[in-house]
Amino acid sequence: MKSVLYKKTKKDFKILPNLEDYERTYERFNWKDWEKELAWFEDGKINAAYNAVDRHVDTWRKNKIALYWEDDDGTQKKYTFEDVALASNKMGNILKDFDVGRGDRVFIFLPRIPELFFSFLGILKIGAIAGTLFSAFQEQALEDRLANSDAKVLITNSELKPRVDKIRNKLPNLKHILVVDTESFTKTFAHTSSELHISHMDPEDYAFMLYTSGTTGKPKGIVHGHGTVLQQYLTAKWVLDLKDEDTYWCTADPGWVTGIAYEILGSWACGVTSVIFAGRFDPKRWYQILEKYRITVWYTAPTAIRMLMPKGTQLVKQFDFSSLRHMCSVGEPLNPEAITWAISAFGMPFHDTWWQTETGAMCIVNFPCMDIKIGAMGKPFPGLTAAIVDDQGKVLKDNEEGNIALKPGWPSMMQTVWRRPQKYKSYFVNNWYITGDRGMRDKDGYFWFIGRADDVIKTSGERVGPFEVESALVAHPAVIEAGVIGKPDPLRGEIIKAFVVLQSDQQAAISNKKVGDKLKEELSQFVKKHLAGHAYPREIEFIDKLPKTRSGKIMRRILKAKEMGLPVGDTSTLEEY
Ligand code: WT7
Repeated sequence: MKSVLYKKTKKDFKILPNLEDYERTYERFNWKDWEKELAWFEDGKINAAYNAVDRHVDTWRKNKIALYWEDDDGTQKKYTFEDVALASNKMGNILKDFDVGRGDRVFIFLPRIPELFFSFLGILKIGAIAGTLFSAFQEQALEDRLANSDAKVLITNSELKPRVDKIRNKLPNLKHILVVDTESFTKTFAHTSSELHISHMDPEDYAFMLYTSGTTGKPKGIVHGHGTVLQQYLTAKWVLDLKDEDTYWCTADPGWVTGIAYEILGSWACGVTSVIFAGRFDPKRWYQILEKYRITVWYTAPTAIRMLMPKGTQLVKQFDFSSLRHMCSVGEPLNPEAITWAISAFGMPFHDTWWQTETGAMCIVNFPCMDIKIGAMGKPFPGLTAAIVDDQGKVLKDNEEGNIALKPGWPSMMQTVWRRPQKYKSYFVNNWYITGDRGMRDKDGYFWFIGRADDVIKTSGERVGPFEVESALVAHPAVIEAGVIGKPDPLRGEIIKAFVVLQSDQQAAISNKKVGDKLKEELSQFVKKHLAGHAYPREIEFIDKLPKTRSGKIMRRILKAKEMGLPVGDTSTLEEY
């Protein structure tokens, strides 16, 4: 692959990175040697939440700020490591009083308020399994997740609770809903003990789960163990390069695995001071946060960077970002323009990192100590073996396109897919974990992303399954069926586009363009209202018939090829076309 090289020079190393020599470390690396940087109980067990927060309380970090929190209105709060440890102990005790124990699922449906973080940690501390839900979720998305997981308790606030009330009767196993901003909860919280026995767990014992999308079916619950914290910690240390002096800002939401791994577990395990901005995306506001808190390390996503770019370097120059020393990105392809723009705007590149909900932590990355081939995802983290394999799991040569694959057994690999053992198994071929992404490796060992191997959509970094959106559309009375694809978009990476077949009585009506446009808008809103605020089709096209296989499966590949004006490829398995 041809690319521009960003060669690291002295000015990139004003501060020596935590990892100074990638190649040498990769060769000699053994996970066992790094386990000792975590805290293990005397019986050899572990707790991920204890490692993130409580272990610092026995050190000088006790009174160090763990969390600076700010919301849209500019309300600010701050918490030391001890404050976070005690508040999460309280949450653990409250849950115990509701009879929550080991292995029970407790879901969190909250905006990025401090209680979200205390709840997450409290759940892990008592050995229960934490599930996180984006606050953009509507009733269908909530029902799918809470029903499949059989969540026993849901933690929410009074703004979001009404959405859950609508589906409560479909969730017989949901025993309690805790509403954190009510007077009664505040009272309970105040009176609850902040002393908690922290559960001793095996690394494989389940700690948290996240629902994520594939090509077919409803979202699946990817389950991670307490042992994931090892890789989350070491990647935070070597890739984000977190040090005690840092003030670190990750812009992700814990509804997404990035928010769990690098806003709670991995980053706090490094003992770093974090900033959480709970407000909306806004270029000026984001820059104010960077400046005000004197952020040193920043972890964000390509869509956000692309949304900053049109405001230009002029806006950047109005702020003092002299504290900033390292920037990383995740979630979708980081286009070369975004990196070169960052170099001119901030004087440094974004370092791309690749991983997935299933991998639990970063896997293929650009290290601070390494030159960047602009457009490449970097190299495998020490202790991980990555390769490009064909569909039978045979390793391909350099520069050949194939499936990006990992050798199973890295510490943060998913433990299971909740109640879907066959689905879990289907990820593995010839003893390789197949990521679902296509790419290639060049002769220098850098990995390049080419695209998804399946129909999964990545819009603004969010992973959306076409089936979920199709199901939401067909729930509308005007719709017979729908086929949904990701359409390339310069800003969002992809947008969701739906091809919709209407009921016959509607078909005549839409010959009037106004009526058709109105119906499109109605369908978009319908999905937004029932499924999720971020997973709705921005573009809708009415179509007479969907291309299908003889067995009746929608051929999204054909819809996509047509949309992009590409040859439709092999149509021999099509029913008719
Ligand atoms: C999918 C995983 C990464 C944690 C949060 C997202 C895409 C992710 C990159 C990257 C190109 C990327 C892949 C991957 N992706 N990072 N650096 N370059 N594509 O996890 O929601 O499970 O999504 O996001 O397609 O498979 P996720």
